[in-house]
Amino acid sequence: MSNPVHYHLEDGLALIGLANPPLNTLDQPLRAALADACERAAADPAVRAIILHGADSLFSAGADIGELGSPASCAVPALPDLLTRLTRIDKPLIAAIGKLALGGGLELALACGYRIGAPDARVGLPEVNLGLIPGAGGTQRLPRLIGAEPALNIMLSGEQLDAERARLVGILDRVADSAESLLDNARAYAHELLCASAPARRKERYPHPADELHDEFFLDFRVEHESRWKGRLAPRLILAAVEAACVLPLEEGLIREQALFRQAEESPQSAALRHVFFAEREAGKVPGIDASTPLRSIGKIAVIGAGTMGGGIAMNFINAGIPVTILESQGDDLDRGLERIYQNYASSLKRGKLRAEQVRQRMDLLTGTLDYADLADADLVIEAVFEKLEIKQDVFRTLDRVCKPGAILATSTSSLDVDQIAGVTCRPEDVIGLHFSSPANVMRLLEVINTRKTAPDVLATTLRLARQIGKVPVVSGVCSGFIGNRMLERCAREAQRLVLEGANPTQVDGVLTGLGLNMGVPGMPALAGQRREDFKVITLAERPAGELQIPRRPIDDQEIHDRCLLMLINEGIQLLDEGIALRASDIDLVWINGYGFPAHLGGPLYYAEQLGLDKVVAGIQRYRKELGAYGEMWFQPAPLLERLVAAGKTRIEPLWPAALQPALFLAS
Ligand code: NAI
Repeated sequence: MSNPVHYHLEDGLALIGLANPPLNTLDQPLRAALADACERAAADPAVRAIILHGADSLFSAGADIGELGSPASCAVPALPDLLTRLTRIDKPLIAAIGKLALGGGLELALACGYRIGAPDARVGLPEVNLGLIPGAGGTQRLPRLIGAEPALNIMLSGEQLDAERARLVGILDRVADSAESLLDNARAYAHELLCASAPARRKERYPHPADELHDEFFLDFRVEHESRWKGRLAPRLILAAVEAACVLPLEEGLIREQALFRQAEESPQSAALRHVFFAEREAGKVPGIDASTPLRSIGKIAVIGAGTMGGGIAMNFINAGIPVTILESQGDDLDRGLERIYQNYASSLKRGKLRAEQVRQRMDLLTGTLDYADLADADLVIEAVFEKLEIKQDVFRTLDRVCKPGAILATSTSSLDVDQIAGVTCRPEDVIGLHFSSPANVMRLLEVINTRKTAPDVLATTLRLARQIGKVPVVSGVCSGFIGNRMLERCAREAQRLVLEGANPTQVDGVLTGLGLNMGVPGMPALAGQRREDFKVITLAERPAGELQIPRRPIDDQEIHDRCLLMLINEGIQLLDEGIALRASDIDLVWINGYGFPAHLGGPLYYAEQLGLDKVVAGIQRYRKELGAYGEMWFQPAPLLERLVAAGKTRIEPLWPAALQPALFLAS
């Protein structure tokens, strides 16, 4: 195995290059090699300063997430110990940050006395997204470097800062002239420090981070933010760690950080979030599609319909620098649609999220038209007109006539049969569904609907494009509602039935939002407005309940939770068995990224695994008995669920023969 660290001595400087591609994750072999290289440089009298850099420019994306929770994560040298050792070397250490310094990667840079970043570098402490806290000194060193409150905000948001912002807040000392000159600028910086006899570490800017804060800061901060954290543990632990940084000396603070880190690492929430992390890396992988699958080039995009979805869809592409032509049937509708997009950007400008120049650049990439002839050179056309099969089929007949050969034709339908839409064209192999969630420019989910006729290169191209615009693509086969809406329908029916049986809509909403869902089912129509008790609805529910002879009774929260969740889970498992979804984790991603299911519970099918599959079956069978004819109609365990339990499985997986998988998904 090649050495994961390059060592090079020149002109009094030791250049230590991390070489653990592709991301320089700080796994045990890299940590051990880095420790050796740093000891060598520390002991060599010819070395006066040390530069740590990414051998292939990228600095480090942080810990090896696969190691977390296993003995390998703390195998000697453990990262916290290694970094403490680096802080004690009595020669200046300069971190030269190319591309990324995230998590443990930034903590490594914080253990150096000085930091210079490439102009395109991004830094951050995203551990909170994995239910963790920075566990290698980040919670203690960052507040001492930039102050407690800014450090807290960076850790709680998990956001990535660009190089200029990182310099302004004080994480970087300098930004290099260009990415290419990073190492040369780092060398020059090292020589400047040596000429000035600079200390190995400069004095901490905030040795007592609490001095900047008012007495009740942590109490007030908790009160202000707690409701937003819902049931999440990691933000609370981050707050506790930063509080420790404010009241304890560094050595004791580091010990406290370790204890809090272990608590986070061992929590079920972190396990669930790690499941989500790996699920995202799996999503969009389709058996039979790989690096050798050809891709179509996508330079120009057209969107048909400038309504709620069309506008949001167009924004995704212009945000990524891809020109979009948007077509409407009437001039007024077009003007209104373009204005709505502009107003969206104007509000980002007002909130400081975009600069005026960026708004102008984006709007310059957008062209409106009423003429299909303007779509002749589009590489991808996404239809987003009214949800009516005949209207969509008309649009596709026209597209078939006007679009160039090889153009990908996509429909944004949320429930219609994509095969029937594709069927009106002479090129069904070029047709695919792209089901965005609303607001399309914000929500990360993109359900990619693959028909039996969709060409593999069309699927592969759309998956790559989805990643390019920052979406989480999940492939779904054709069925009514696809993965997300078909499951929602089962859960929503149960919620409505519970209201007929006597549950209060607010109670149903409360149980589901209490679980962490962004919206309980009854609250969904209030997406534009306030959610509040409407007594008319309760009265309204009494009439059909009477007509249908549904006895009304008080219903407790547990029953609401169980019935809604059991229906959601059961339908997800059924979708897997039918080959509509490829893997259980894809279904989890649909619900986390499109329907507000809490990521720290891992998604509905991961949640089912934690409940226990045998308990899920037992719950369904219980309501089958208790709910009479209604129970018999709906509470039927999915056959795959029963097979999994019979086989003693604890994980949800499709039990298809592997050879069948590509056949389920790819056009022959
Ligand atoms: P919308 O009613 O806001 O917009 C539809 C637009 O299409 C209108 O501006 C209309 O003037 C235009 N249009 C209608 N027929 C046309 C034609 N023949 N040629 C050109 N333009 C035409 O509808 P919305 O909500 O944007 O939905 C669009 C599609 O997206 C539907 O298929 C819907 O099911 C789907 N969808 C909607 C979601 C939502 O939350 N609104 C979520 C996910 C998908």
